[in-house]
Amino acid sequence: MFSYRHAYHAGNHADVLKHTVLVAVMKHLALKEVGFTTIDTHAGAGIYRLDSADANQSGEAQEGLLALMRNKSKLAGPMADALLDYRRVLDHFNPEGGLLNYPGSPLFAHHLLREQDKLKLFEMHPTDIRGLQTRVEELRAGRQVMVIHEDGFNGLPKFLPPSTRRGLVFIDPSYEIKLDYERVVVAVSISMKRFATGTYVVWYPIIPRPQAHSLPRHLSNLARQADKPWLHATLRIRTGARNDVTPGEKAKPKGLVDSGVVIINPPFTLYEQLQQALPQMVQLMGQDHLAGFSLTRG
Ligand SMILES: C[S@@+](CC[C@H](N)C(=O)[O-])C[C@H]1O[C@@H](n2cnc3c(N)ncnc32)[C@H](O)[C@@H]1O
Repeated sequence: MFSYRHAYHAGNHADVLKHTVLVAVMKHLALKEVGFTTIDTHAGAGIYRLDSADANQSGEAQEGLLALMRNKSKLAGPMADALLDYRRVLDHFNPEGGLLNYPGSPLFAHHLLREQDKLKLFEMHPTDIRGLQTRVEELRAGRQVMVIHEDGFNGLPKFLPPSTRRGLVFIDPSYEIKLDYERVVVAVSISMKRFATGTYVVWYPIIPRPQAHSLPRHLSNLARQADKPWLHATLRIRTGARNDVTPGEKAKPKGLVDSGVVIINPPFTLYEQLQQALPQMVQLMGQDHLAGFSLTRG
């Protein structure tokens, strides 16, 4: 456990997908005056340098966010609104221009908070929790932002429902442990009983593991049983096989290439926003004929 460090993955295609959704959902919640609570069950360290040794070693941001920005002149028309909103948050963290600082979900969320909103951040990693606590202290946000060094799955229900009955639960585990898939479903199921009208955003990797394939079905079933709308978006940037395979050699997977997000109780505008943003993500980050997206709802 705890071999996963988000610093290697910051700004990759999966971050582009999940953080675009996070920004869109929070902006929609902020349209009403009444405050809302965002709960991030797996927060990470808060902010990352895209020129760090960790980021350079993996090169994932190069295939993700940096490709999205590098290639944007390929678009025939304007960039989709959801991607522009995502980019605006990144600009805030890079006031000198360029893209060296990549905010994690806690800082994306904090940037979009208004005075009346609250943010709860769970993190378990002994190093990342210290980084996160330091970042949050620097924000001087007082009681508006709470960092909790606890298991996010176990701790989530105690904040539900939020006092204003408005909120977003962002669930972004590392899935280092197979049990995480099951724990996500249990956590959402328990949480929906306490807070059926909340918006739930769950990211997951699409990898050859039965639990990963069944996760979106389990989540959409929970939504259906509660008679709530859901949305499922996936993004793939290329083939997962190595392209330097010699004849007779079995192709081996090379990094994460495919992931998805399930949203329960999505804003009614999100489907259309993603209908515009996902093809552009594929156009700008896609590397071969296996790049693509899907978008379904119920
Ligand atoms: C994919 S990363 C999170 C990235 C972050 N949400 C972002 O978008 O910037 C997953 C994080 O969850 C942490 N983690 C793993 N198991 C956890 C648990 N049960 N509760 C809370 N955090 C956990 C890991 O240490 C890691 O930092």
